Amino acid sequence: MKKIQVVTLFPEMFEGVLNSSMMWKAQKEGAVEFGLINLRGYGIGPRKQVDDTPYGGGDGMLLKPEPLFAAVEAAKANDPTAKVLLMTPRGQRWKQATAQSYADADHGYIFICGRYEGYDERIVSLVDEQVSVGDYVLTGGELPAMTIIDSIVRLIPGVLGGESSAEIESFSDGETLEFPQYTKPAEFRDMKVPDVLISGNHALIAKWRQDNSFKADL
Ligand code: ADE
Repeated sequence: MKKIQVVTLFPEMFEGVLNSSMMWKAQKEGAVEFGLINLRGYGIGPRKQVDDTPYGGGDGMLLKPEPLFAAVEAAKANDPTAKVLLMTPRGQRWKQATAQSYADADHGYIFICGRYEGYDERIVSLVDEQVSVGDYVLTGGELPAMTIIDSIVRLIPGVLGGESSAEIESFSDGETLEFPQYTKPAEFRDMKVPDVLISGNHALIAKWRQDNSFKADL
């Protein structure tokens, strides 16, 4: 059972995503266990302060180190071998091959979700890996964390329905995206399913799929 813990100021953002579809199924089947850690709970003083102004001046507030260290240490106490990941646009770009190796590894993960204004740089000393979902800036690390968690969990053995479906699909060989697919009806609003797919000729179908696979620009 893989343990995935998330340190965030907005645990409610995760509820719908983690408790629907494949991720709900993965939990129900005991392949994964999620833990949401509210950073606010580790805030300082009666107002549970988690951020403060930057030294040297500047706009915005930065996440303070003490609450984040305490929250990550609590997560580590639950799962001492877990790898700590910081969501940041400065990080390594997330790829399908990385998702696969994270799914295969026999340890858990602790995701730290930053906020858009930033964090005290000393937080980086807690972290094993800094990860980005792309060259654009989001308001916080929550959406990246959900994206990355989904991409890992669906690759944990036994989570996807057909065991071969993860193998033939997009990006699994590093560049091929899956081919176009159709279901019934064979004709819909003047748009026809290619004849070859209805032919029953498996060799021709395999060739058509190969020829029509999308190529990714990776
Ligand atoms: N936080 C804000 N933008 C991000 C991105 N592109 N990837 C990961 N974390 C982020």
